[in-house]
Amino acid sequence: TARVAILLSGGGSNMVALADSMVGDHPARPCLVLSNNADAGGLARAAERGIPTAIVDHRPFKGDRAAFEDALQAKLETARPDIVCLAGFMRILTAGFTDRWQGRMLNIHPSLLPKYRGLDTHARAIAAGDSVAGCTVHEVTAALDDGPILGQARVPIAPDDTPATLAARVLTAEHRLYPAVLRRFAGGDRTPVMLG
Ligand code: GAR
Repeated sequence: TARVAILLSGGGSNMVALADSMVGDHPARPCLVLSNNADAGGLARAAERGIPTAIVDHRPFKGDRAAFEDALQAKLETARPDIVCLAGFMRILTAGFTDRWQGRMLNIHPSLLPKYRGLDTHARAIAAGDSVAGCTVHEVTAALDDGPILGQARVPIAPDDTPATLAARVLTAEHRLYPAVLRRFAGGDRTPVMLG
């Protein structure tokens, strides 16, 4: 059984979707939920599910990303994950960290990559006049929101969408996509999952 650590910064709805999928004949189980934010709602939602939690606050490191990442790495080494899932983890990771987990670390990003890397993806898609949006799960490399694509889900953009209404629609698709990709990946299959 593959051990999965989930890193998050916020509400943790993707963590919930992943954790609740890892039951029965699923090839993986959660071993840790790790956050840079002690107030992240996802920590309580993990604890409710009996998943071990840990916090590494980035602020005391005052921009020393290597030292922050060493602290993350120490928590991960205690939990011994086979796979690390970034799920709304809002800190940029350097090559020093991503190289250690290359081929074993996944991220979900709220756009159809390679479009709209970075932040404010939904506002940018609407401003561009796109008619389709979506989300992407990819392997994490040193380049931001890059790396081999493991799955995408598409949703329509409505003429009256705001960034908030579009974000809600994409988030629902994230909750279908990420568990589907993790199940396949944990089973050793990196064929992309395409939904919608
Ligand atoms: C999700 O929409 C995820 O794709 C996005 O943050 C949200 C987290 O929601 N991630 C990024 O923007 C990464 N740069 P959640 O905490 O409810 O899973």
